[in-house]
Amino acid sequence: MKGSLYTHSSEETEAAGARLAASLQGHEVLAFFGDLGAGKTTFLKGVISGLTGCSPHEITSPTFNYLNIYEGEFPVYHFDLYRLTSAEQFEGAGFSEYMRGDGVCCLEWAEKIESKLPPATIRITMQHQGNDCRLITIL
Ligand SMILES: Nc1ncnc2c1ncn2[C@@H]1O[C@H](COP(=O)(O)OP(=O)(O)OP(=O)(O)O)[C@@H](O)[C@H]1O
Ligand SMILES: [Mg+2]
Repeated sequence: MKGSLYTHSSEETEAAGARLAASLQGHEVLAFFGDLGAGKTTFLKGVISGLTGCSPHEITSPTFNYLNIYEGEFPVYHFDLYRLTSAEQFEGAGFSEYMRGDGVCCLEWAEKIESKLPPATIRITMQHQGNDCRLITIL
C-alpha cells in the first residue's frame, strides 16, 4: 500500500491505518514521521486494532515508557520516541531487537533513530494540510 492520500477526519486516518494493516505479513517495521498532532497515533489505532482485534480506545501512545506491546496473531510493538535523547539510547535499551524479530514494529518519531532503521522499513509521513485535512505518504 504505497502512495499518498488525503484524509479529512481522524476516522478516515484510522481507516487508512486499518487498510495498511490488512496488507502486512507480520514482520514489518513501520516508521512514522510528522509534526505534533499530525495523526501518527490516530493512524496507529487503525493499524494495531486491525492487526490484533483490540479496541482503538485501548490504544494510547507510550510517551513515557517508550513501548507498548499488543498480542495478536503476532506481536505488535508500538514505540513513541518523542522523549528519546539519542539513537544510542534506543540501542542501549535493547530496543533494536524489536525491529529484527517476528512481529510488526511501529515507531512514532522515527527520525530519532533514522540511522538505525532497516532498509526495508515502510516510511509513513503525515503532514497537516489545515483544519482536519492530513496528507499521508507511504513509501
Ligand atoms: N484527518 C485527520 N487525521 C488524524 N487526526 C486528525 C485529523 N483531523 C483532525 N485530527 C486530530 O488531530 C489530532 C491527531 O493526534 P495524534 O495524537 O494522532 O497525533 P500524533 O501525530 O500522534 O501526535 P504526537 O506527535 O503528539 O504523538 C487528534 O486530535 C485528531 O482528532
Ligand atoms: Mg502520537
